[in-house]
Amino acid sequence: MAAPTKKNPPFVSPPVSTETVQPAVPSTRAHVYITTPLYYVNAEPHLGSAYTIIICDTIARFHRQRGAETFFLTGTDEHGDKIAQAAEAAGESPKAYADRISDAFRHTWEACGLEYDRFIRTTDADHVRTVREILQQVHDAGDIYFSKYGGLYCTGCERFYTEKELVEGKCPDHRTTPDWIEEENYFFRMSKYQERLVAVLNEDPDLVRPERYRNEVLAMLREPLEDLCISRPKARLTWGIELPFDDRFVTYVWFDALINYVTAVRELGPERFAALWPAANHFIAKDILKPHAVFWPTMLMAAGLPLFQHLNVHGYWTVNGEKMSKSLGNVVRPLEMKARYGMDAFRYVLLRESVFGLDADFREDAMVTRINADLANNLGNLVSRTLSMQQRYFGGVVQPLADPRPEDDDLRATFAAAAAEVEEHVGELMLARALEAIWRAADHANKYIVETAPFTLAKDPAALPRVGTILHNLLETLRVTAQLAAPFIPETAQRIRELLRLPEGALAVPGPQWGDAFPAGHVVAPPVALFPRIE
Ligand code: MSP
Repeated sequence: MAAPTKKNPPFVSPPVSTETVQPAVPSTRAHVYITTPLYYVNAEPHLGSAYTIIICDTIARFHRQRGAETFFLTGTDEHGDKIAQAAEAAGESPKAYADRISDAFRHTWEACGLEYDRFIRTTDADHVRTVREILQQVHDAGDIYFSKYGGLYCTGCERFYTEKELVEGKCPDHRTTPDWIEEENYFFRMSKYQERLVAVLNEDPDLVRPERYRNEVLAMLREPLEDLCISRPKARLTWGIELPFDDRFVTYVWFDALINYVTAVRELGPERFAALWPAANHFIAKDILKPHAVFWPTMLMAAGLPLFQHLNVHGYWTVNGEKMSKSLGNVVRPLEMKARYGMDAFRYVLLRESVFGLDADFREDAMVTRINADLANNLGNLVSRTLSMQQRYFGGVVQPLADPRPEDDDLRATFAAAAAEVEEHVGELMLARALEAIWRAADHANKYIVETAPFTLAKDPAALPRVGTILHNLLETLRVTAQLAAPFIPETAQRIRELLRLPEGALAVPGPQWGDAFPAGHVVAPPVALFPRIE
């Protein structure tokens, strides 16, 4: 079995020059594969599940915009005790129940404008086939054995706990006393791969990032790793994928679900699999670090597959300082946020108000403040002032870009620097800092309006050519802002592009040089209010 190899360039893009306004050296990655966790169908989409998929959608758009072949996967996790129990409580068969909630996820994500390439379900036939093939292969290789096991089992977590892991004898997550369960089961020789996993984590410091989570994983691996129980006797649970080598058992839900990441790209054929799989970037929250950072890489090693490129781990959202829960009645639903504020505003706030890897707190009042300050005032004003002056003084017709003055060069340099910062920060998943850089540039453009005062100059007919140049520069700031912000607020970026009457595809990276985007005689649209102020 070959040792896992990692041949892809790192996810972090190289530092770029700030000399031209275009992201001169865009993250030239030919292939990018992005995954969300597969959400359990025992709850409907909320702020937390939306956050991960919005990050993934943003990163996927970022790479697509730079011409990479991008594959973006999401879906639902449907087997196991938890789902069987939820279905029973709902008075439905597990499959009917899973169909219904899985549809709710798909409809929500579609209504939110999220552009994934496949929505996978762990009940999909190709996934079931892949799981059985991998199980058989690992079994044949001798890494799955049959044994008796007794342990403390938490149904909520669907896993056995060691005494040490319990808090006052209770599951730390569910605060319930686990049941002592003794049964014969199949085990994956995970312990065999412990050393190799530690070595890989040491050789490749970015495999699990940010660093705090890598350290957490290394800390877990300081204890001896136990083998993983990967079956459930049908006497206890039938809702799962039957083991290919023993039909009295179904597969443990994590050994099933994690494999989805391979199923989806394997289905694309060997060539695309070979290109995409080593470029896999998993996105999860810290709650499922152990299955992704310990079970998954050791499973891949046993299956003789290379490891993913990065496991990207973000923090947890609370709402007004509290854990989000149905019983507290504080669940934030993405479609309600979309209806109230618009999807882009919701996306913007989530990405702007969180630091990747750290926990964040969601407050609707803070959201309104942010929308008014950044979207209605800063960006919205820049768009409406520029387009209204272009309309008033030139009937919307773009004027030549004449001799640059120092303040024009400064403006252009600010946007060049913002473009470079966006490349760098997105490569490091610092999405809030990327947005900060774009909005700093937009702010500069607003100040440029005040300082150059085209509305005063326009009173003097002799100064009109200068007014034309100022407005031309401002149109460029709108174009570049839309280009840089497109992965984050895609609808707004397209609306700006349409207002500028630029063709579809005009926001690709790299785009035209400053001054080249608007041919002589080009006409832009009259202004609109992109983001009305929220009172
Ligand atoms: N089904 C497993 C994952 C299997 S992946 C092969 C699972 N599902 S889940 O529905 O519980 O989703 C957990 C994920 O939802 C988190 O890792 C995170 O991506 C997202 N979040 C759920 N609640 C969240 C917050 N409150 N805050 C941030 N993200 C949250 O675990």
